[in-house]
Amino acid sequence: MTKYIVEGGRPLFGEIHISGAKNAAVAIIPAALMVSGPCRIENIPQISDVALLLGILQDLGAKVRFMNPHAVEIDCSRLRNGRVPYESARRCRASYYMLGALLGRFGAADVALPGGCDFGGTRPIDQHLKGFRALGVQVDTQSGFVIAEAAGGRVKGANIFLDKVSVGATINIMLAAALADGMTVIENAAKEPHIVDVANFLNSMGANIMGAGTDVIKVRGVDCLSGGSYSIIPDQIEAGTYMAAVAACGGEIRICNIIPKHMDCISAKMTEMGVDIEEIDDSLLVSRIGPLQRTNIKTMPYPGFPTDMQPQIAAALCLANGTSVITDSVWNSRFRYTDEFKRMGAQIQVNGNLAIIEGVERLSGAQLEACDLRAGAAMLITALAAQGISEISNVQYIERGYEDVIGKIRSIGGSIRALEFPEEEQLAVGNAG
Ligand code: EPZ
Repeated sequence: MTKYIVEGGRPLFGEIHISGAKNAAVAIIPAALMVSGPCRIENIPQISDVALLLGILQDLGAKVRFMNPHAVEIDCSRLRNGRVPYESARRCRASYYMLGALLGRFGAADVALPGGCDFGGTRPIDQHLKGFRALGVQVDTQSGFVIAEAAGGRVKGANIFLDKVSVGATINIMLAAALADGMTVIENAAKEPHIVDVANFLNSMGANIMGAGTDVIKVRGVDCLSGGSYSIIPDQIEAGTYMAAVAACGGEIRICNIIPKHMDCISAKMTEMGVDIEEIDDSLLVSRIGPLQRTNIKTMPYPGFPTDMQPQIAAALCLANGTSVITDSVWNSRFRYTDEFKRMGAQIQVNGNLAIIEGVERLSGAQLEACDLRAGAAMLITALAAQGISEISNVQYIERGYEDVIGKIRSIGGSIRALEFPEEEQLAVGNAG
C-alpha cells in the first residue's frame, strides 16, 4: 500500500502545468467507441480512471495506441458490443457513460451499475435512465447491471426535460442522441466546461450538437461518426486545487495551461479570502502574502462555485481569520473528510450538507485516510499547510484524478514522498484501532 509522507509548514513557490480535465477525459474516452474509425485524443491526463476506461474499450475490441504519454489513438472500427463487467464499472463511476455510447453506436447496452467516490449518500442515475427511455430505449436493471435495448435497434430523437441538473445525465443522453434517428432536445441541461468539451469532441468526429454550455442542448442525430482528432481542455478543478494550496500555505505560484473563463467562479471566492490572482494569457499568478480571510460558500452547478472544489476550499478556510460556512447544494453528505481535518486541530461542525469552520492559528501533521478523490486532494492541502509531518493513506483515490501529484507539489517547493507499506503492516495499524 502506498502512502504519501508530507512535511508541511512552508509557503509554496514555483510553477505548475495543468493537465487535461479528468471529467472531460472520462466521458470522451467512452464517446470514442461511437467513432467508426481512428480518432486521436490529445492532452489526455495520465490518471488511473483514464487507464481503466481505455482498458474497458480494449476489452470490447478497440485498438488503443499512445503516441506519447498525453496523446492516444483509439480505433473502434472493429469494436463489438459486449457486457461492461462489474470488476471495471465498480472502480470508476464514469463507466456509466458506456451506456450512452453503446446505445448510440449499437442500439443496445449491458453495463454494470457504477461505483466511484462514496460521499456517504446515494448517487442515483434515475435521470440517465429517464432520458434513455424517452429515446425509445427499454431499460431494465437486473442483478447489478443496466440492460438497455432501443426499439427497432436504433435510438430515436426526443424532447427531454431533466428533473435535476445532472452532469452525468446530460452527457449520457447527449452520447446516445448523437447517433439517434432524428432530433433530441435536452432541457435543464448541466453547463459544465467538460460538457462543452464532450460536445466539441463529438462534433469534431462528425456529430451535430448545438447549445452545449447552455441549459438547452439540441442534438441532430447523424448516421455515423467518421473520426478525427481532438485536444481535451485543461482541468479547472486541478487548477483550483493548487490555488487552494497557496491560499492555505501562503507563497506565490504560476499555474500554467488554464482557460481563465473556467476559473472565474473559483478566483472570485479566493479573491474574497485575500488571495491575489493575476491572469496572464493562459496562466494565473496566484499569491497569498497577508492573512487569509473567512468567507461563506454555497456550491452550485456551473457557473457557480463547483462542489468538486468544496473539500479543497474547506482545507484553506480551516486557517482563515474568523468563521466560514460552507453549504453543499449538490451532494448532501460530502463532509466525511472533516473528521480527518479535526485530527489536525481544525475546528469544524458539520450538519448534513452544511459545515461551519472556525479558523485556527495552525494545524498539526497527523495520519490521514483519504475517503474519496477530492477529500484526498484536500488532505494534501492541510498536510502542506500543517506544522510537522503527515501520512496520507488510500492515495489511490487521489491518483484517480490528479496526474503526477508528487512531481507537481515538488515543483512548487512542497516536501512530499511516496512510501510503500506491506499490506499486513497496514492491517496491523488498522487492528490497533
Ligand atoms: C459529476 O458527477 C462529476 N463526476 C462529479 O465529480 C461532480 O461532483 C458532479 O458531476 C457535479 O458536478 C464526473 O464527471 C465523472 P451529477 P455526476 O449527475 O454526473 C443528483 C469529481 O470529484 N442526480 O451532476 O454523478 C445527484 O445525486 C467527481 O471529479 C440525481 O438525482 O453528478 C446529485 O445530487 C465527484 N439523479 C446531483 O444530481 C441522477 O440521475 C448532481 O449529480 C443523476 C444525478
